This record gives sequence, C-alpha cells and structure tokens, in this order.
Amino acid sequence: TPETALAHADSLIRTIPDYPQPGVLFRDVTPLLADATALRSVVDAMIAPFAGRFDVVAGIEARGFLLAGAMATAAGVGLVPIRKAGKLPRPAAAVSYTLEYGTATIEAHDDIADGTRVLLVDDVLATGGTLVAAHELIGRLGGVVVGTAVLMELEGLGGREAVGDVYSVFTA
Ligand code: PRP
Repeated sequence: TPETALAHADSLIRTIPDYPQPGVLFRDVTPLLADATALRSVVDAMIAPFAGRFDVVAGIEARGFLLAGAMATAAGVGLVPIRKAGKLPRPAAAVSYTLEYGTATIEAHDDIADGTRVLLVDDVLATGGTLVAAHELIGRLGGVVVGTAVLMELEGLGGREAVGDVYSVFTA
C-alpha cells in the first residue's frame, strides 16, 4: 500500500550526528533516493496534494533538484531550477536571505510566462529561510506559487511559521 511504501521510505532516511558540524543532526536522504519503491512513493506523495493545480515544479539547489526533476516528469510538467548565486548565465531575479552565519542568495532564469502556477519543492524545511526566499523569487519572475512541498520538515526551527502553508511527507 502507499502507507507501507512511505513507512519504508521514512526508514531509509539516515540520521548522521555531528555533520557537517558538531551538534548538527544531518538527515541523509540518499538511501531513500537509491530505492526505487521509496523514491516513487515520496514523489507521488509530494505531488498528490497539488495534482492538476500546477504548471511547473521549481526545485531548490541542490538536493531539491533530485525530487523536483522526478516530480516534474511524473506529473507531466516542466522544471525550473532555483540556483545558488553565480551558477546561471542570465538570472532574471535574485533574492538574498539570512543563514545562521552570514547570508545566501538564490537566483533563477525567467523561463516562465506571467501567471504560471508553480509548485515549490525542496528536500528539507529547517528555518524556512530558503523557501521564503524562493517564494519571493518566483513572484519576481511573475509566477504564482500555488503550493510548497518538502520531503522532510524539521520541527521546532520555525520553518512552518515562516513559510506558511507547506506540505511535508515526513517530520522529524
Ligand atoms: C538545505 C536544504 C534546504 C535548506 C533548508 O540546503 O536542502 O534547501 O538547507 O534550510 P532552511 O529551511 O533553514 O532555509 P543547503 O543550503 O544545505 O544546500 P544543498 O541542498 O545544496 O546541500
């Protein structure tokens, strides 16, 4: 069943202490990605709440790309990569946001028509800074964010409060 497939997928997320820094519990999704049934189950779960209501999937570098590409193909829509600053030759918009230490900037090309309905996708929601910035970025391109989906939501970091409506397959 879809429920047992998702439970199996959840069990494949590996928790690594003290990576990339001491005190950080890193959620490693590569074992889940490597499993065909698990990958398919999470791709389907992330599409389902928004089925038929989006024109493109926008995925956030780098691990968001892995899910967004699979979701776009499965849903039969296109893909917009949201990249870290300096990676795209013709960025049409850039948004900076605050990290724990310093700032980061994300950029995108404007390959979508005004009013395009966008499903925003990332692997992990932590503080929400990345997704809030991505929301702003899509708006500057003339797109309309109709939904936000993440594989895993880390609770207690304020992400849900910052982003607002977000669908997460798993919480930790
Ligand atoms: C991680 C993760 C999200 C973001 C979540 O990306 O993939 O994009 O952090 O954190 P936030 O909710 O506090 O903004 P990271 O910057 O590590 O990039 P990567 O995917 O390229 O490793």
